[in-house]
Amino acid sequence: MTMPTPVGNTAELQARIDEMGPWFYDMELGNGLRTTSKVAATHDNIHVTRREMVAGAVRGHFGERLGSVNALDVGCHEGYFSFLLRELGVPRIHGVDLRLESLQKARSLAEIAGHESMDWTHCNCEELDHHVTDQYELCLCVGLIYHLENPIRCLRQISARCSEMIVVETQVCDEIQGQTEWGRQECQMPYQGGFALIDETCFDDNPETGASPLALCPSPEALRTVLRSLGFSRVETISPPGTGNEQMLRGKRVVVAGYRS
Ligand SMILES: C[S@@+](CC[C@H](N)C(=O)[O-])C[C@H]1O[C@@H](n2cnc3c(N)ncnc32)[C@H](O)[C@@H]1O
Repeated sequence: MTMPTPVGNTAELQARIDEMGPWFYDMELGNGLRTTSKVAATHDNIHVTRREMVAGAVRGHFGERLGSVNALDVGCHEGYFSFLLRELGVPRIHGVDLRLESLQKARSLAEIAGHESMDWTHCNCEELDHHVTDQYELCLCVGLIYHLENPIRCLRQISARCSEMIVVETQVCDEIQGQTEWGRQECQMPYQGGFALIDETCFDDNPETGASPLALCPSPEALRTVLRSLGFSRVETISPPGTGNEQMLRGKRVVVAGYRS
């Protein structure tokens, strides 16, 4: 997609962007404007791989239809993946996040870069139903669910807004297999994967964490089972590029796409 021309002098606009920092992401906004990440040294590699995997899956599915897609980006932070979608040619993007400061940064960047039809909503994604009512062909839920107390509830609400494709990117816990007794010894219920309970209190003021101190991190099979149960008839785990981030290559972090048909 051709980048819009920002309104104003580039040096002044860049100074405005720098003043809004510190930034979590390195983002190229077109026309020489950019944000500079405060954590690039430790996070750059993972972001590049996540970007490549998400972009590949989205392009692979929508192809030339990208120019007519309506997208929802839940847990959008400063808009990193929203701006990626814009770069891919998605015309209408709605970002949602728990943190007003992050949304204000995303909104200002969109305005400075001259991007129209990008909307931002401040809410807890576990209450998405109360705040977002439109339908979206594409829903992103990246870097989010392992920060949530109720990841299934959140995915259920995103799923209700999603008419075609959902992309979930998440940390995953080790797979769990087996069964548990159910009511009596002879009756066994098989596990459909599992969730690990994570205490995030150690990341106290970190703007990347969730709304509550405890979070549930799914295993790969649990995530696929949830998506299938939410009506995504085809669920695919996206392969990382061979030179990608080592966590992705070891399957400790995954990108899973769900399709309605
Ligand atoms: C690790 S960051 C990931 C941001 C971005 N999606 C990415 O993948 O790079 C998690 C983001 O989700 C947001 N978040 C966490 N819990 C949330 C919740 N309950 N509702 C909405 N946003 C939430 C955080 O504020 C943060 O911006």
